[in-house]
Amino acid sequence: MVLLDFIRYQQQLTGTKIGCNEGDCGACTILAGEYSNGTLQYRSYTSCLTPLGNAHGKHIVTIEGLNRTKGEPPLKGDPPSAGAAPLNPVQQAMADESATQCGFCTPGFTVSLAGFCLSHKPPTVQNAIAAIDGNICRCTGYKSIERAAARVAGLLQNRGNEAPVSFAVQQQLLPAWFASIGPRLQQLKLSLNGNGVYPQDAAPARLVGGGTDLYVQKHDEMQDAPIRFMLDSPGLKGIVQEGNRCSIGPSATVTDIKESPLLQQHFPRLADHAALVSSTPIRNIATLAGNFINASPIGDFTIFFLALDAMLVLGNGSTTRELPLRKLYKGYKTLNKQPGEYIEKIGFNLPGPNSRFSFEKVSKRTHLDIASVNTALHIVTDGSTIQEAHLSAGGTGPVPQFLEKTSAFFKKKPVEAATIRQAAALAQSEITPISDARGSEAYKRLLLSQLIKAHFITLFPELQLETIA
Ligand SMILES: Cc1cc2nc3c(=O)[nH]c(=O)nc-3n(C[C@H](O)[C@H](O)[C@H](O)COP(=O)(O)OP(=O)(O)OC[C@H]3O[C@@H](n4cnc5c(N)ncnc54)[C@H](O)[C@@H]3O)c2cc1C
Ligand code: FES
Ligand code: FES
Repeated sequence: MVLLDFIRYQQQLTGTKIGCNEGDCGACTILAGEYSNGTLQYRSYTSCLTPLGNAHGKHIVTIEGLNRTKGEPPLKGDPPSAGAAPLNPVQQAMADESATQCGFCTPGFTVSLAGFCLSHKPPTVQNAIAAIDGNICRCTGYKSIERAAARVAGLLQNRGNEAPVSFAVQQQLLPAWFASIGPRLQQLKLSLNGNGVYPQDAAPARLVGGGTDLYVQKHDEMQDAPIRFMLDSPGLKGIVQEGNRCSIGPSATVTDIKESPLLQQHFPRLADHAALVSSTPIRNIATLAGNFINASPIGDFTIFFLALDAMLVLGNGSTTRELPLRKLYKGYKTLNKQPGEYIEKIGFNLPGPNSRFSFEKVSKRTHLDIASVNTALHIVTDGSTIQEAHLSAGGTGPVPQFLEKTSAFFKKKPVEAATIRQAAALAQSEITPISDARGSEAYKRLLLSQLIKAHFITLFPELQLETIA
């Protein structure tokens, strides 16, 4: 079952709401605490898409767990007690700014903001607002909610270098028992098969990463399926440098990628690119392998890694083989992968000093929306001549595309407007977009042309290419 059903129907904790059941609204947001690299870290999850097995060994916090208890000593600013438990300062910020009307979305917003208090992110207003990017309110209006978020950021201003959990407890932002969770989680991990992973079914089973694709597309089917949980399986996470290559575990999440110091160093605009992908609670659970294998023609990180010419290591428990990501897709949702094979590792050459990389995505809304067209370009130049280029495109055919002809065309060409114009024209012969809810065929063709130009305008500002027609 999904975590949301466990929380509401088995634990009777009905403060966590069911809205869309598809990861879009944030009504079901909870926090999951676990040790990561030696520190206790809390991340928001959409519980409607989280299989219960992915909660194993973690501290799950629902809205009820944030409440102060009746009879607690009053905080500065508490209204005169009417007998009820006082609001915690995050809840109080929502109330003071009139950031709630019907109240259906309020537990989700409050949990996300509490998660911000527990995160290691600098306590800026911008970061507080980013923490609620997966929460939707249909009646209050976002300005008052943003003001509440700004107040919450204000509560953290004196945190300095103190650990977020101890600061939040000390300031009574959270109940005092939060301070005991760290040692309890470590004890729990030791008692769970030594590694804290949910016992795996030996029978052929459905692989589940974060579940953000499977529990949207196949919710009912998943209830009875034998499951192999990949998200926390040992050895399937991690982002490390091996010589001039980067090796990524298939269960690395979008957040892991976004926060990786190694990837940040090589992709300076990574945070901007990742901010265009889903929302904070989805990014916290959505895995890279899940993005590749769900084979959506517009998978954002599939397009990103196609341009890096990523290599997959596919294993079946006894043998392994390597397969370039660009060879994975045979047709719409048809993969060059045997039953029982799974992604064990993802690798790619780290960009060198002469490399430049760009990712572009156009969607109807800037945030929390899938692409109409997305594309990435990795280009290596020698002075003003292109040595190598890898161009990918999504939303332009039945599969995420590595544009082979256009990529080859760039080789040994000068970086100039004529090259870019010819490449944009050639790319048209490699794509077969269809008209659908995300745009007409003609619009998608035009988008890809414009985005190819955008790659160059962004990557070569010194050439002032803005005038490419
Ligand atoms: C609200 C919402 C917004 C979204 N926005 C975006 C977006 O902006 N951009 C985008 O690209 N996607 C988006 N998605 C889609 C989805 O989140 C991503 O594709 C995500 O990366 C899927 O990963 P997962 O771990 O959740 O996949 P899962 O649902 O767990 O699995 C997907 C598939 O991968 C398989 N799988 C998982 N791990 C492995 C492995 N190691 N080896 C082989 N097979 C494996 C599973 O068996 C399954 O077939 C969104 C989804 C939601 C619900
Ligand atoms: S119920 Fe809407 S995100 Fe889970
Ligand atoms: S207060 Fe009604 S949905 Fe937000």
